[in-house]
Amino acid sequence: MDSVVLSDYRSQGVGGKLIDARYDVIRKLNLRGLVAGSIPIDYSKVANHVTIEQYVRDVIAGTRFDTNLSKQLRKGFKVHGLIPNYTTETSCGGYGVEIVWDNPDYRPLRRAYPAAVPARMPVIRQVPAPLMPRTA
Ligand SMILES: CC(C)(COP(=O)(O)OP(=O)(O)OC[C@H]1O[C@@H](n2cnc3c(N)ncnc32)[C@H](O)[C@@H]1OP(=O)(O)O)[C@@H](O)C(=O)NCCC(=O)NCCS
Repeated sequence: MDSVVLSDYRSQGVGGKLIDARYDVIRKLNLRGLVAGSIPIDYSKVANHVTIEQYVRDVIAGTRFDTNLSKQLRKGFKVHGLIPNYTTETSCGGYGVEIVWDNPDYRPLRRAYPAAVPARMPVIRQVPAPLMPRTA
């Protein structure tokens, strides 16, 4: 599911509220987190002298501001990787950035059903005792 704030309304807190609402749903459903594709929207401005890898490193370090990715990192997303040929959008050179938010409140549920039967069950053979003592 994409969420986009019209450019005239950005940097006024709208996108942050949308992201917070997603986090609330994830917490309520006790999900592990959220994986999303982000567009490094200002990359084309420096693409002729900065590699995309360096660009993203700079955004993570906070030495470069990207109108889109920086805000998502500010909201707690972490960069997990680059996605070449992600979009036909030219402002980002076609790149996407895989971003992940881990739900800090996630609690693994205890199984309500028995675990699957292991492929190799231990075999216990019961050897019946002889009814009568053997005679030589
Ligand atoms: C990403 C996007 C949703 C952000 O929307 P927005 O309304 O501009 O975001 P906000 O104004 O709420 O800012 C979000 C956070 O960045 C911070 N921020 C905003 N402008 C900033 C600036 N110039 N410098 C530093 N931080 C800034 C805000 O403080 C906020 O953090 P906070 O909640 O901790 O205060 C919006 O830029 C967008 O629609 N991008 C294109 C579509 C997209 O890629 N969507 C995501 C994939 S689903």
